[in-house]
Amino acid sequence: MFGIERMRDEDLKKLEDELLNAKKLEAIGVLAGGIAHDFNNLLFVIMGNINMAQLKIEGEYLARRHLMEAEKACLRAKDLTQKFITFSSGGGPVKSRLSLRELVASIAELVLRGTLTSWELKGTEQPSWDVEADENQMRQVFTGLIENAVEAMSKGGLISIATENVQIDGAGIGGMDLGDGRYVKVSVADEGIGIPEENMPNIFDPYFSTKYRGSQKGMGFGLAIAHSVIKKHNGTIKVESIPGRGTTVSVFIPAAEGECGALRSGRPYFTPPRKRILVMEDEEMPRELIQTMLEHLGFEVDTAQEGREAVELYFQAMDTGRSYDAVILDLAVKVGMDGKEAIGKIRYLDPKVRAIVSSGYSKEAIMTSCADSGFSYVLKKPYDLEALKVAMEQVLGGC
Ligand SMILES: Nc1ncnc2c1ncn2[C@@H]1O[C@H](COP(=O)(O)OP(=O)(O)OP(=O)(O)O)[C@@H](O)[C@H]1O
Ligand SMILES: [Mg+2]
Repeated sequence: MFGIERMRDEDLKKLEDELLNAKKLEAIGVLAGGIAHDFNNLLFVIMGNINMAQLKIEGEYLARRHLMEAEKACLRAKDLTQKFITFSSGGGPVKSRLSLRELVASIAELVLRGTLTSWELKGTEQPSWDVEADENQMRQVFTGLIENAVEAMSKGGLISIATENVQIDGAGIGGMDLGDGRYVKVSVADEGIGIPEENMPNIFDPYFSTKYRGSQKGMGFGLAIAHSVIKKHNGTIKVESIPGRGTTVSVFIPAAEGECGALRSGRPYFTPPRKRILVMEDEEMPRELIQTMLEHLGFEVDTAQEGREAVELYFQAMDTGRSYDAVILDLAVKVGMDGKEAIGKIRYLDPKVRAIVSSGYSKEAIMTSCADSGFSYVLKKPYDLEALKVAMEQVLGGC
């Protein structure tokens, strides 16, 4: 009897600790997301202008080299803000149906090629269930987990990856914070140094790292991102470790039900025509930049500062028989009508409108399932000329 009560107390304490930890991570996430949002907008303008300046400098000028260096630094900064956004409360998953088993195997193959580490994929007897998940975010999660496993085994060793279909009903599994239902479990087990007990409460914190890689310390982002992404997919992540023996990280993601629309893929051939594009963006610098980039791609561009103006311009253009071929709408504006409302009004009059939603940071469902809201494509800021070109190809392709 005493034993059972003790167990319950321990379980309760563990759950309380987990709850506290989750609250702490959520608060850091809000802060990180805010900073990343502002930084992202600035970065977008810096990167775009470097892009444009590069195009204008002809010949072997020294300035080209400086611009290239600046661009490289911007790309690293972009990676960093992206990590913050993924970690923060923004960066909602853009989901498609996928097989985690296939995804993890392809990541292991890529990450472990040329290392001292070998790996095995242990399996389910039945085919592994699919999940509805953000492929990019899942890629980040499992790349981080496999990198951690490699880094824990400096002399090499074996990483065992296993997938399992799990049905949770009623009792749950060992005090885990998962609702009933079907889950895909993926575990990554290593034979490495393990994690000391005293570090366990901190391993999911951003910037918590015990690694020193030459002059560059580990960022401590791998598990922070994994935790946040998996929570956003209504799953959970568990870490079990025995110092000196190894670590097993298990991830549970809800299994997919039924068919659902996969994201469009494939790149139609791009011929830059003088097509007309309407851009709605409330901030001046990004607005001018998007206009410049689109004009560079050969489009004719009109701009609006907020939704109402965009809707008016769209209707005027239809009236005069010079309809826009596509619109790019900013999701969130500080003053006036936002992109969501604007697309509703535009689509009411022109159900065939081709619309791109653009935003750097948003919890809005639009950024995750754009088709439901009347948009055909999501363009995440900061984007460069190439990403804009691909978006235009996708949206205008075949017309
Ligand atoms: N498989 C593992 N074996 C041993 N320790 C681990 C393992 N995974 C995580 N850790 C511990 O947790 C810490 C945080 O891991 P995390 O992946 O978040 O950051 P990092 O690997 O240090 O840096 P980054 O992932 O940003 O390169 C690590 O520094 C390490 O101490
Ligand atoms: Mg890591």
